[in-house]
Amino acid sequence: MNLNTIKFDDGDAYEQYMGIWSKLVGDIFLKWLSPAPGLQWLDVGCGNGAFTENIVESCSPSSVHGIDPSIEQIDFARSRLDSTLTKFTQGDAMDLPFQDQSFDIAIMPLVIFFVPEPEKGVSEMVRVVRPGGIVSAYAWDMMEGGFPYMNLIDEIRLMGIDVPVPPNPDASRLETMKRLWINSSLVSVEETEITVQRSYSDFDEYWSIVLRGPSVGSSLKAMPYDELTNLKDRMRKVLPFNSSGRITLSARANAIKGSVPG
Ligand SMILES: C[S@@+](CC[C@H](N)C(=O)[O-])C[C@H]1O[C@@H](n2cnc3c(N)ncnc32)[C@H](O)[C@@H]1O
Repeated sequence: MNLNTIKFDDGDAYEQYMGIWSKLVGDIFLKWLSPAPGLQWLDVGCGNGAFTENIVESCSPSSVHGIDPSIEQIDFARSRLDSTLTKFTQGDAMDLPFQDQSFDIAIMPLVIFFVPEPEKGVSEMVRVVRPGGIVSAYAWDMMEGGFPYMNLIDEIRLMGIDVPVPPNPDASRLETMKRLWINSSLVSVEETEITVQRSYSDFDEYWSIVLRGPSVGSSLKAMPYDELTNLKDRMRKVLPFNSSGRITLSARANAIKGSVPG
């Protein structure tokens, strides 16, 4: 299997493929998290700023610092958000470029399964958040069908073709996240599940979006014309169309939060 070769190198393609999903789940997540206003936020794996925008729009933060290894994603994030409140830096979850206790709250939105050592990613968030602050994350349930494009991935695999996967899908399980949070000494740990739906106006819209998707796009681009046509036919059979040709998909994420002791 082609591990860890998902490339986040196009912020606009990401927005259509995942950013719209990200904002839907992020909105419900923030209602559940219910943070106080005026906090200093760290958004770990901020990507193109889709969820960072949710924080700015609904949490009245005093500041939000996003970090992500992808410069293309960061460039898109910078272009969508006002720089008086937000700052974006290239960086890795496992080696956060911040002093201890620099933030009130750290979030990993749709990222934990991409981090090569999730334990290190969580312990870094704990390190940079002040005592009493919050460390939280949410992730598509990659092991139990929560990923919004799972039926596409399944069909590609059924044709015997590889699709790149994140390095740690197991880290998206609620049980695994709970263990990570408790082993990192976080207290008052709580978890929830979030289900969201998104519609595509027709098959052409859906297809143009997935063709540019970070995980599946490279597999689709490498397919000969006949195979691609075959896959499109298969997808037309499995996608849930309504009578006017609209497609509505569901996705489910696991979310967790805990406090830094002290
Ligand atoms: C699915 S996207 C989520 C982006 C954004 N948080 C959102 O909700 O839309 C995953 C992001 O994780 C980033 N990422 C991958 N490995 C990472 C790591 N080791 N540390 C921090 N971010 C990472 C990717 O570059 C990508 O932007």
